[in-house]
Amino acid sequence: RTLRIGLIPGDGIGREVIPAGRRILEALPSSLGVKFSFVDLEAGFDTFKQTGVALPDRTVETLKKECDGALFGAVSSPTTATKGYSSPIVALRKKLDLYANVRPVKSVAPSPAYPEPIDLVTVRENTEDLYVKEERTYDTPDGPVAEAIKRISTRASTRIATMAGEIAARRARVRQSLGDSSKQALVTVTHKSNVLPQTDGLFRSSSFAALAQQRFKDAGVKVEEQIIDSMLYKLVLQPAYYDVIVAPNLYGDLLSDTAAALVKSLGLVPSANVGDGFAIGEPCHGSAPDIAGKGISNPIATLRSVALMLDFLNEEEAAARNYKAVDGNLAEGKLLTPDMGGKAKTNEVVEDVIRRL
Ligand code: NAI
Ligand code: MG
Repeated sequence: RTLRIGLIPGDGIGREVIPAGRRILEALPSSLGVKFSFVDLEAGFDTFKQTGVALPDRTVETLKKECDGALFGAVSSPTTATKGYSSPIVALRKKLDLYANVRPVKSVAPSPAYPEPIDLVTVRENTEDLYVKEERTYDTPDGPVAEAIKRISTRASTRIATMAGEIAARRARVRQSLGDSSKQALVTVTHKSNVLPQTDGLFRSSSFAALAQQRFKDAGVKVEEQIIDSMLYKLVLQPAYYDVIVAPNLYGDLLSDTAAALVKSLGLVPSANVGDGFAIGEPCHGSAPDIAGKGISNPIATLRSVALMLDFLNEEEAAARNYKAVDGNLAEGKLLTPDMGGKAKTNEVVEDVIRRL
Protein backbone atom coordinates (compact mmCIF):
# COMPACT_ATOMS: atom_id res chain seq x y z
CA ARG A 1 0.00 0.00 0.00
CA THR A 2 0.98 3.62 -0.42
CA LEU A 3 0.70 5.98 2.54
CA ARG A 4 0.48 9.70 1.91
CA ILE A 5 2.48 11.72 4.41
CA GLY A 6 2.15 15.47 5.02
CA LEU A 7 5.52 17.13 5.72
CA ILE A 8 5.38 20.22 7.93
CA PRO A 9 8.96 21.35 8.65
CA GLY A 10 8.00 24.58 10.46
CA ASP A 11 10.90 26.80 11.53
CA GLY A 12 14.61 26.56 12.32
CA ILE A 13 16.04 23.04 12.41
CA GLY A 14 12.58 21.70 11.52
CA ARG A 15 13.75 22.42 7.97
CA GLU A 16 16.74 20.12 8.46
CA VAL A 17 15.23 17.23 10.37
CA ILE A 18 11.97 16.79 8.44
CA PRO A 19 13.82 16.22 5.13
CA ALA A 20 15.83 13.61 7.06
CA GLY A 21 12.56 11.92 8.02
CA ARG A 22 11.46 11.87 4.41
CA ARG A 23 14.74 10.30 3.29
CA ILE A 24 14.32 7.47 5.79
CA LEU A 25 10.80 6.70 4.58
CA GLU A 26 12.03 6.70 0.97
CA ALA A 27 14.87 4.36 1.88
CA LEU A 28 12.73 1.68 3.56
CA PRO A 29 13.13 -1.56 1.59
CA SER A 30 10.23 -2.26 -0.78
CA SER A 31 10.04 -5.83 0.59
CA LEU A 32 8.17 -4.35 3.56
CA GLY A 33 5.17 -3.82 1.27
CA VAL A 34 4.60 -0.15 2.00
CA LYS A 35 5.46 2.91 -0.07
CA PHE A 36 5.10 6.59 0.62
CA SER A 37 4.07 9.70 -1.21
CA PHE A 38 4.60 13.17 0.21
CA VAL A 39 2.97 16.56 0.27
CA ASP A 40 4.81 19.66 1.56
CA LEU A 41 2.78 21.79 3.94
CA GLU A 42 3.34 25.13 5.63
CA ALA A 43 2.97 26.14 9.28
CA GLY A 44 4.94 28.07 11.87
CA PHE A 45 6.24 31.50 12.77
CA ASP A 46 7.87 32.16 9.38
CA THR A 47 4.56 31.30 7.74
CA PHE A 48 2.85 33.68 10.15
CA LYS A 49 5.24 36.50 9.30
CA GLN A 50 4.69 35.97 5.57
CA THR A 51 0.94 35.36 5.52
CA GLY A 52 -0.52 36.49 8.83
CA VAL A 53 -1.59 32.96 9.82
CA ALA A 54 0.52 30.32 11.57
CA LEU A 55 -1.58 27.39 10.36
CA PRO A 56 -2.98 27.91 6.84
CA ASP A 57 -6.34 26.28 6.05
CA ARG A 58 -4.71 24.42 3.16
CA THR A 59 -2.47 22.58 5.62
CA VAL A 60 -5.40 21.40 7.74
CA GLU A 61 -7.59 20.51 4.74
CA THR A 62 -4.81 18.60 2.98
CA LEU A 63 -4.05 16.60 6.12
CA LYS A 64 -7.74 15.79 6.58
CA LYS A 65 -8.56 14.93 2.96
CA GLU A 66 -5.37 13.47 1.51
CA CYS A 67 -3.04 12.24 4.19
CA ASP A 68 -2.66 9.10 6.29
CA GLY A 69 -0.14 10.67 8.63
CA ALA A 70 2.28 13.56 8.97
CA LEU A 71 5.64 14.69 10.27
CA PHE A 72 5.91 18.00 12.08
CA GLY A 73 9.30 19.62 12.75
CA ALA A 74 9.24 22.44 15.27
CA VAL A 75 8.00 25.98 15.37
CA SER A 76 9.52 29.06 16.95
CA SER A 77 7.30 31.00 19.30
CA PRO A 78 7.47 34.78 19.34
CA THR A 79 9.25 35.95 22.49
CA THR A 80 6.72 38.75 23.09
CA ALA A 81 2.94 38.50 22.88
CA THR A 82 2.16 38.73 19.17
CA LYS A 83 -1.33 39.64 18.07
CA GLY A 84 -3.00 36.93 16.00
CA TYR A 85 -0.33 34.28 16.62
CA SER A 86 -1.19 30.97 18.22
CA SER A 87 0.70 27.69 18.18
CA PRO A 88 -0.03 25.65 15.03
CA ILE A 89 0.65 22.28 16.66
CA VAL A 90 -1.82 23.01 19.44
CA ALA A 91 -4.40 23.99 16.81
CA LEU A 92 -3.66 20.90 14.74
CA ARG A 93 -4.18 18.61 17.73
CA LYS A 94 -7.62 20.18 18.20
CA LYS A 95 -8.67 20.24 14.56
CA LEU A 96 -7.66 16.65 13.91
CA ASP A 97 -8.75 15.43 17.36
CA LEU A 98 -5.30 14.06 18.15
CA TYR A 99 -6.16 13.23 21.72
CA ALA A 100 -2.97 11.50 22.81
CA ASN A 101 0.61 12.63 23.09
CA VAL A 102 2.87 9.61 23.10
CA ARG A 103 6.56 9.80 24.02
CA PRO A 104 8.84 6.78 24.10
CA VAL A 105 12.04 7.28 26.06
CA LYS A 106 14.85 4.83 25.52
CA SER A 107 18.40 4.97 26.84
CA VAL A 108 21.26 4.66 24.37
CA ALA A 109 23.66 2.81 26.63
CA PRO A 110 23.52 2.11 30.34
CA SER A 111 24.83 5.16 32.21
CA PRO A 112 26.43 5.24 35.67
CA ALA A 113 23.20 6.71 37.06
CA TYR A 114 21.05 4.10 35.28
CA PRO A 115 22.86 0.81 34.84
CA GLU A 116 19.66 -0.89 33.66
CA PRO A 117 18.32 0.08 30.23
CA ILE A 118 15.44 2.57 30.20
CA ASP A 119 12.66 1.80 27.73
CA LEU A 120 9.32 3.35 28.57
CA VAL A 121 6.48 5.31 26.98
CA THR A 122 4.43 8.13 28.45
CA VAL A 123 0.86 8.47 27.15
CA ARG A 124 -0.59 11.88 27.93
CA GLU A 125 -4.26 12.82 27.50
CA ASN A 126 -4.23 15.87 25.31
CA THR A 127 -7.67 17.48 25.20
CA GLU A 128 -8.88 18.29 28.70
CA ASP A 129 -7.86 18.64 32.37
CA LEU A 130 -6.57 22.16 33.20
CA TYR A 131 -5.75 22.67 29.52
CA VAL A 132 -9.38 23.52 28.76
CA LYS A 133 -8.03 26.95 29.76
CA GLU A 134 -11.18 28.14 31.49
CA GLU A 135 -9.79 30.62 33.97
CA ARG A 136 -11.36 33.54 35.75
CA THR A 137 -10.23 36.19 38.19
CA TYR A 138 -12.53 37.96 40.63
CA ASP A 139 -12.07 40.58 43.32
CA THR A 140 -12.39 39.91 47.02
CA PRO A 141 -11.74 42.15 50.02
CA ASP A 142 -8.35 40.44 50.32
CA GLY A 143 -7.43 41.09 46.70
CA PRO A 144 -8.01 39.27 43.40
CA VAL A 145 -8.49 35.50 43.36
CA ALA A 146 -7.98 33.37 40.27
CA GLU A 147 -9.42 29.94 39.47
CA ALA A 148 -9.12 27.40 36.66
CA ILE A 149 -11.38 24.54 35.66
CA LYS A 150 -9.97 21.02 35.69
CA ARG A 151 -12.27 18.97 33.46
CA ILE A 152 -12.03 15.19 33.27
CA SER A 153 -14.49 13.14 31.21
CA THR A 154 -15.24 9.44 31.15
CA ARG A 155 -14.95 9.43 27.36
CA ALA A 156 -11.50 11.04 27.17
CA SER A 157 -10.14 9.00 30.08
CA THR A 158 -11.45 5.76 28.59
CA ARG A 159 -9.97 6.35 25.16
CA ILE A 160 -6.54 7.40 26.46
CA ALA A 161 -6.33 4.36 28.75
CA THR A 162 -7.43 2.12 25.88
CA MET A 163 -4.64 3.55 23.76
CA ALA A 164 -2.15 2.92 26.58
CA GLY A 165 -3.32 -0.71 26.72
CA GLU A 166 -2.89 -1.07 22.96
CA ILE A 167 0.60 0.41 23.09
CA ALA A 168 1.60 -1.97 25.91
CA ALA A 169 0.24 -4.93 23.94
CA ARG A 170 2.07 -3.87 20.79
CA ARG A 171 5.35 -3.36 22.65
CA ALA A 172 5.02 -6.82 24.16
CA ARG A 173 4.43 -8.26 20.68
CA VAL A 174 7.50 -6.51 19.30
CA ARG A 175 9.66 -7.65 22.26
CA GLN A 176 8.45 -11.20 21.76
CA SER A 177 9.25 -11.12 18.04
CA LEU A 178 12.78 -10.00 18.92
CA GLY A 179 13.14 -12.75 21.53
CA ASP A 180 13.44 -10.13 24.26
CA SER A 181 12.01 -11.35 27.57
CA SER A 182 13.47 -8.56 29.71
CA LYS A 183 10.15 -6.97 30.51
CA GLN A 184 6.49 -7.76 31.12
CA ALA A 185 3.78 -5.57 29.59
CA LEU A 186 2.71 -3.06 32.23
CA VAL A 187 0.45 0.01 32.22
CA THR A 188 0.86 2.34 35.19
CA VAL A 189 -2.14 4.64 35.70
CA THR A 190 -1.09 7.85 37.42
CA HIS A 191 -3.36 10.36 39.16
CA LYS A 192 -3.96 12.12 42.47
CA SER A 193 -7.36 10.73 43.40
CA ASN A 194 -6.49 10.80 47.10
CA VAL A 195 -6.80 14.61 46.91
CA LEU A 196 -9.16 14.93 43.95
CA PRO A 197 -11.55 11.97 44.26
CA GLN A 198 -13.99 13.33 41.66
CA THR A 199 -11.80 14.51 38.78
CA ASP A 200 -8.77 12.28 39.21
CA GLY A 201 -11.03 9.64 40.70
CA LEU A 202 -12.95 9.53 37.41
CA PHE A 203 -9.71 9.30 35.43
CA ARG A 204 -8.64 6.43 37.66
CA SER A 205 -11.89 4.45 37.52
CA SER A 206 -12.36 5.00 33.76
CA SER A 207 -8.78 3.91 33.11
CA PHE A 208 -9.10 0.75 35.18
CA ALA A 209 -12.38 -0.13 33.46
CA ALA A 210 -10.83 0.39 30.01
CA LEU A 211 -7.74 -1.64 30.87
CA ALA A 212 -9.81 -4.52 32.22
CA GLN A 213 -10.78 -5.50 28.66
CA GLN A 214 -10.20 -9.15 27.90
CA ARG A 215 -7.94 -8.37 24.90
CA PHE A 216 -5.45 -6.69 27.23
CA LYS A 217 -5.55 -9.58 29.66
CA ASP A 218 -4.97 -11.94 26.75
CA ALA A 219 -1.94 -9.89 25.75
CA GLY A 220 -0.54 -10.23 29.28
CA VAL A 221 -0.82 -6.53 30.11
CA LYS A 222 -0.52 -5.93 33.83
CA VAL A 223 -2.12 -2.81 35.30
CA GLU A 224 -0.88 -0.82 38.29
CA GLU A 225 -1.46 2.66 39.68
CA GLN A 226 0.81 5.27 41.19
CA ILE A 227 0.02 8.64 42.73
CA ILE A 228 1.69 11.30 40.55
CA ASP A 229 4.15 12.65 43.13
CA SER A 230 5.52 9.23 44.00
CA MET A 231 5.36 8.38 40.30
CA LEU A 232 7.90 11.11 39.53
CA TYR A 233 10.01 10.03 42.50
CA LYS A 234 10.12 6.41 41.37
CA LEU A 235 10.57 7.34 37.74
CA VAL A 236 13.80 9.14 38.59
CA LEU A 237 15.00 6.40 40.97
CA GLN A 238 14.06 3.28 39.00
CA PRO A 239 13.03 4.15 35.44
CA ALA A 240 13.91 0.68 34.15
CA TYR A 241 10.88 -0.72 35.97
CA TYR A 242 8.32 1.14 33.84
CA ASP A 243 6.78 0.23 30.51
CA VAL A 244 3.72 2.38 29.63
CA ILE A 245 2.56 5.22 31.89
CA VAL A 246 -0.81 6.88 31.25
CA ALA A 247 -1.73 10.26 32.72
CA PRO A 248 -4.20 13.12 32.50
CA ASN A 249 -2.98 16.19 30.63
CA LEU A 250 -1.11 18.23 33.27
CA TYR A 251 0.59 15.32 35.04
CA GLY A 252 1.41 13.91 31.61
CA ASP A 253 3.13 17.16 30.67
CA LEU A 254 5.40 17.00 33.73
CA LEU A 255 5.92 13.29 33.43
CA SER A 256 6.91 13.33 29.77
CA ASP A 257 9.53 16.05 30.22
CA THR A 258 10.93 14.35 33.33
CA ALA A 259 11.15 11.07 31.44
CA ALA A 260 12.92 12.79 28.52
CA ALA A 261 15.51 14.19 30.94
CA LEU A 262 16.48 10.63 31.95
CA VAL A 263 18.15 10.17 28.57
CA LYS A 264 19.58 13.70 28.45
CA SER A 265 19.72 14.82 24.83
CA LEU A 266 16.59 16.50 23.51
CA GLY A 267 17.80 15.52 20.08
CA LEU A 268 16.93 11.88 20.81
CA VAL A 269 13.35 11.97 22.05
CA PRO A 270 10.45 11.50 19.63
CA SER A 271 6.75 11.99 20.11
CA ALA A 272 3.52 11.34 18.30
CA ASN A 273 0.21 13.15 18.40
CA VAL A 274 -2.33 10.43 17.86
CA GLY A 275 -6.06 10.25 17.21
CA ASP A 276 -8.26 7.53 15.76
CA GLY A 277 -6.72 6.70 12.39
CA PHE A 278 -4.24 9.58 12.23
CA ALA A 279 -0.81 10.22 13.69
CA ILE A 280 1.65 13.09 13.49
CA GLY A 281 5.26 12.29 14.38
CA GLU A 282 7.06 15.20 16.03
CA PRO A 283 10.49 15.46 17.66
CA CYS A 284 10.26 16.80 21.23
CA HIS A 285 12.82 19.54 20.69
CA GLY A 286 12.15 23.05 19.43
CA SER A 287 13.48 25.00 16.44
CA ALA A 288 16.96 25.40 18.01
CA PRO A 289 17.81 28.82 16.51
CA ASP A 290 21.33 28.57 18.00
CA ILE A 291 22.30 25.80 15.58
CA ALA A 292 19.81 26.27 12.72
CA GLY A 293 21.34 26.38 9.25
CA LYS A 294 24.62 24.74 10.27
CA GLY A 295 23.68 21.22 9.18
CA ILE A 296 24.55 19.76 12.58
CA SER A 297 21.12 19.18 14.13
CA ASN A 298 20.58 15.70 15.50
CA PRO A 299 18.03 13.92 13.28
CA ILE A 300 17.50 10.97 15.67
CA ALA A 301 14.43 12.39 17.45
CA THR A 302 12.78 12.85 14.07
CA LEU A 303 13.83 9.44 12.73
CA ARG A 304 12.33 7.85 15.84
CA SER A 305 9.20 9.98 15.37
CA VAL A 306 8.95 8.50 11.88
CA ALA A 307 9.03 5.01 13.39
CA LEU A 308 6.44 5.98 15.97
CA MET A 309 4.13 7.33 13.27
CA LEU A 310 4.56 4.05 11.37
CA ASP A 311 3.58 2.10 14.51
CA PHE A 312 0.30 3.98 14.70
CA LEU A 313 -0.32 3.52 10.97
CA ASN A 314 -0.03 -0.24 11.62
CA GLU A 315 3.29 -0.63 9.82
CA GLU A 316 4.95 -2.35 12.74
CA GLU A 317 7.60 -4.11 10.69
CA ALA A 318 8.71 -0.93 8.94
CA ALA A 319 8.75 0.81 12.31
CA ALA A 320 10.84 -1.93 13.92
CA ARG A 321 13.34 -1.80 11.04
CA ASN A 322 13.66 1.94 11.52
CA TYR A 323 14.11 1.76 15.33
CA LYS A 324 16.74 -0.94 14.94
CA ALA A 325 18.73 1.07 12.41
CA VAL A 326 18.69 4.11 14.70
CA ASP A 327 19.70 2.04 17.74
CA GLY A 328 22.54 0.55 15.69
CA ASN A 329 23.86 3.99 14.86
CA LEU A 330 23.73 5.07 18.51
CA ALA A 331 25.20 1.84 19.87
CA GLU A 332 28.17 2.02 17.53
CA GLY A 333 28.61 5.67 18.49
CA LYS A 334 30.93 6.58 15.61
CA LEU A 335 28.69 8.95 13.70
CA LEU A 336 27.10 11.27 16.23
CA THR A 337 26.15 14.94 16.01
CA PRO A 338 27.87 17.53 18.29
CA ASP A 339 25.04 17.49 20.89
CA MET A 340 26.02 13.84 21.48
CA GLY A 341 29.70 14.64 21.68
CA GLY A 342 30.43 13.70 18.07
CA LYS A 343 31.48 15.56 14.94
CA ALA A 344 29.03 14.24 12.36
CA LYS A 345 26.69 16.34 10.24
CA THR A 346 22.96 15.67 10.10
CA ASN A 347 23.32 14.08 6.66
CA GLU A 348 26.09 11.71 7.73
CA VAL A 349 23.90 10.36 10.53
CA VAL A 350 20.99 9.93 8.13
CA GLU A 351 23.20 8.09 5.63
CA ASP A 352 24.52 5.79 8.36
CA VAL A 353 20.97 4.96 9.49
CA ILE A 354 19.93 4.33 5.87
CA ARG A 355 22.84 1.89 5.43
CA ARG A 356 21.52 -0.04 8.44
CA LEU A 357 17.93 -0.23 7.18
P1 NAI B 1 15.08 23.88 21.71
O1 NAI B 1 14.60 22.49 21.88
O2 NAI B 1 14.86 24.47 20.39
O3 NAI B 1 16.65 23.96 22.03
C1 NAI B 1 17.22 23.73 23.33
C2 NAI B 1 18.70 23.35 23.19
O4 NAI B 1 18.80 22.03 22.68
C3 NAI B 1 19.44 24.24 22.20
O5 NAI B 1 20.74 24.46 22.65
C4 NAI B 1 19.46 23.43 20.93
O6 NAI B 1 20.55 23.70 20.09
C5 NAI B 1 19.48 22.00 21.46
N1 NAI B 1 18.78 21.09 20.54
C6 NAI B 1 17.43 20.94 20.42
N2 NAI B 1 17.17 20.05 19.45
C7 NAI B 1 18.34 19.62 18.98
C8 NAI B 1 18.72 18.70 17.94
N3 NAI B 1 17.82 18.03 17.20
N4 NAI B 1 20.04 18.52 17.71
C9 NAI B 1 20.96 19.16 18.44
N5 NAI B 1 20.68 20.03 19.41
C10 NAI B 1 19.38 20.28 19.68
O7 NAI B 1 14.39 24.75 22.84
P2 NAI B 1 14.45 26.33 23.08
O8 NAI B 1 15.79 26.85 22.75
O9 NAI B 1 13.89 26.52 24.42
O10 NAI B 1 13.42 26.96 22.05
C11 NAI B 1 13.75 27.46 20.75
C12 NAI B 1 12.47 27.77 19.98
O11 NAI B 1 11.75 26.55 19.76
C13 NAI B 1 11.55 28.69 20.76
O12 NAI B 1 10.97 29.60 19.84
C14 NAI B 1 10.51 27.75 21.33
O13 NAI B 1 9.28 28.38 21.53
C15 NAI B 1 10.42 26.70 20.27
N6 NAI B 1 9.98 25.37 20.76
C16 NAI B 1 9.13 24.68 19.96
C17 NAI B 1 8.70 23.41 20.30
C18 NAI B 1 7.82 22.68 19.33
O14 NAI B 1 7.63 23.10 18.21
N7 NAI B 1 7.22 21.58 19.73
C19 NAI B 1 9.13 22.77 21.55
C20 NAI B 1 10.08 23.56 22.31
C21 NAI B 1 10.46 24.81 21.92
MG1 MG C 1 5.96 20.20 27.98
